[in-house]
Amino acid sequence: MTTPDAAPRELTVALLGGGTVGSQVARLLTESADDLAARTGARLRVVGVGVRDTVRPRDGIDAGLLTDDLAGLAASGADIVVEVLGGIEPARSLILAAMEAGSSVVTANKALLAEDGATLFAAAEKHGVDLYYEASVAGAIPLLRPLRDSLAGDKVRRVLGIVNGTTNFILSAMDENGADYADVLAEAQALGYAEADPTADVEGYDAAAKAAILASLAFHTRVRLEDVHREGITTVSAQDVAAARDMGFVIKLLAVAELAEDERGVVVRVHPAMVPRSHPLAGVRGAFNAVFVEADAAGQVMFYGRGAGGAPTASAVLGDIVAIARHRVAGSLGPGESTYARLDVLPVGEAVTRYYVNLDVADKPGVLATVASAFADNGVSIQNVRQDGRGDAARLVVRTHTAHDSALSATIDRLRSTDAVRAVVGVMRVEGEGGS
Ligand code: NAP
Ligand code: HSE
Repeated sequence: MTTPDAAPRELTVALLGGGTVGSQVARLLTESADDLAARTGARLRVVGVGVRDTVRPRDGIDAGLLTDDLAGLAASGADIVVEVLGGIEPARSLILAAMEAGSSVVTANKALLAEDGATLFAAAEKHGVDLYYEASVAGAIPLLRPLRDSLAGDKVRRVLGIVNGTTNFILSAMDENGADYADVLAEAQALGYAEADPTADVEGYDAAAKAAILASLAFHTRVRLEDVHREGITTVSAQDVAAARDMGFVIKLLAVAELAEDERGVVVRVHPAMVPRSHPLAGVRGAFNAVFVEADAAGQVMFYGRGAGGAPTASAVLGDIVAIARHRVAGSLGPGESTYARLDVLPVGEAVTRYYVNLDVADKPGVLATVASAFADNGVSIQNVRQDGRGDAARLVVRTHTAHDSALSATIDRLRSTDAVRAVVGVMRVEGEGGS
């Protein structure tokens, strides 16, 4: 016997933010309404879009939905509240108010998660709601859920990748056509890749926040923004990019989170690094992101896709909305935060990698021996040395085998205090070369 279809269930969605990402989320919720209903078992109805400026028309958003009463919208008890405002406040207070009102939350806010994720996860648990944040790292790329779910039975040793679209866009253009830094940044902003304050991108804060989120998931340990060693790309010059190209390398802003060799803890770092042109990360151009995860049983797994932009990021937000809607329909919840391992977060000096060092030296007898002993005395093994130029224009380019970051720092300090070295012109970590 068949029964007549029950009236489809309705779930309400409140959007906090209607900018680059929020407007695309609103568009997709409208355009895909029938498919989303079929996939979740409920119709998703947008009840409001919170913005600052309710007068400015926005593509894809019904003007009647715009409101500047974000506190009221957050606390309205919508089934799902989507936070795409950015920044710490008022985003944090609004998310907490939403959870208190029984709403599950989707956020793309890596800055907030990396600064105070603990408060949000605790509130989600207390109020029995979901907190999903796939869009906070690497835009459209399904990365957090594979780490949290698909690789949950494995032991992750290392996560390494390009997680900031803006800086990758800038570095790619500098490498491809010697583009001017400021022009490319303006283009990245116009394309909607950059954060409201692009300092977050170019100084590495955005990538560091993402590294903290990735490390927390990969190592079941709470890692915060302040735990991440961070260097941006503002000190990378056109000459650095050209020198890297001459040696067969490309410069990338990398995020690396890895278990220390003896598993005493994890080191999490974000910095520019030279990557061999033959490495898959070298081919990641423009605003694309790519992340390698190395796990004991799985080996190396690579995730690749669009890391920034309104529509790609909205795709990840929609995935989270669908997941939560399914939970609401089934009366279930997804997994909460997992921090049982409680590993120490170690200083960057414990990181082990290779280095490129460019020295302006006096071209006279004994200089090479003095330089070599600075490396040897600090336990840093030299892989090769090349002299460029002669006389006053002499440069020594040293590449090392793997060494502790602390040993390389001590070497650089020694070189700086040596008469034979006029200046340390460049120091960069080298990632993606095999061997030791
Ligand atoms: P955006 O274009 O600057 O949009 C922010 C929206 O929030 C705007 O609609 C703005 O209103 C509203 N808003 C911000 N603060 C507000 C306040 N105090 N009161 C009321 N409304 C406020 O930013 P976005 O690029 O969409 O980024 C949003 C979030 O997604 C951020 O956390 C960002 O890190 C994250 N994210 C962005 C991308 C990307 O590629 N853009 C990718 C991944 C994650 P008005 O429009 O009236 O100013
Ligand atoms: N500003 C960020 C980036 C947006 O350029 O990667 C995506 O998180």
